[in-house]
Amino acid sequence: MNEQIPAIQSAAIAQIASIADERTLDEVRVAVLGKKGTLTLAAAGIKDVPQEEKAAFGQLLNAARTAITAALEEKQSALRDAADHAALAGIDVTLPARPLAIGTLHPLTQIRDEAIGILRRMGFALADGPEIEDEFHCFDALNTPADHPARNEKDTFYFDSGKLLRTHTSSVQIRTMESQSPPVRIIAPGSAYRRDEIDATHLSVFNQLEGLYVATDVSLPDLKGTLEYFFHELFGPDTGVRFRPHFFPFTEPSFEIDVKLHIKGQAPRWIEVAGCGMVDPAVFEAVNASRNDRAYDPDKTTGFAFGMGLDRLAMIRWGIKDIRLLIENDTRFLKQFA
Ligand code: PHE
Repeated sequence: MNEQIPAIQSAAIAQIASIADERTLDEVRVAVLGKKGTLTLAAAGIKDVPQEEKAAFGQLLNAARTAITAALEEKQSALRDAADHAALAGIDVTLPARPLAIGTLHPLTQIRDEAIGILRRMGFALADGPEIEDEFHCFDALNTPADHPARNEKDTFYFDSGKLLRTHTSSVQIRTMESQSPPVRIIAPGSAYRRDEIDATHLSVFNQLEGLYVATDVSLPDLKGTLEYFFHELFGPDTGVRFRPHFFPFTEPSFEIDVKLHIKGQAPRWIEVAGCGMVDPAVFEAVNASRNDRAYDPDKTTGFAFGMGLDRLAMIRWGIKDIRLLIENDTRFLKQFA
């Protein structure tokens, strides 16, 4: 008996030493230590060992199991190391790396972030509203009567539910005033949708940036100064900016703003970039009715609003001739703004 255990041990250890793959190693583990393994069976023989030899037998058994287990583990980690080495041997770490293509910010994102930066420095906070709007926030509360052309089926994307894709970000003016009391000074960049004929300066989805400042004693010079400052910050102090009288249902008086566009090889021309004006008292009254209070009492409250086209601003900044380039995502075009 006492010879059998050391014999199993040295045979197993010799066998393990000669193994060259993990599968065979596992087979040997089962053949020696498994339920029917040689050492397990030999251990069962302890019942036939005379009482006074049982302790010595047990010690031999434990020593054998420990030694075999250690040999198995050592072999396994040696085999794994060898496999790792072999896998890495084919890699030449001195080869130049494959270049990683790094993305850049889209020109629209760049101009939007810049515009937001300028206006935030002037104290405007960011506001937000849904792109799927109802007629109240997009039109009625903005003093736009039911027969106004902007509400026409052929100019606006309507859903069967009666909701619509907002035609401008001015709906955020109403949503902001419904939830906040004056003074408010907010900007709201976002998408707007119109069933426009698509051409070099029109898309059916475009990007606007709305602004609203309501307090007491806000005046037309405040509006003009704010926007002139804004465009000069964005395009440089020598940029031509002009205000043309216009009509919007929700502002009175109202203006359109043109900025002079310079494209290499073309005569400079004025391009319309924004609408603006003093908030019409009818808008304040619609908000009061919706809030069910008089927080925007037109006798005490004044304000200005503006909405600019971010796509147009990008076109002016970089002399882009066709607005469609901004949505085609042709990397040859986009790379120029890196
Ligand atoms: N909502 C107008 C448009 O989309 C722009 C505008 C905004 C005009 C705010 C006046 C005040 O054309």
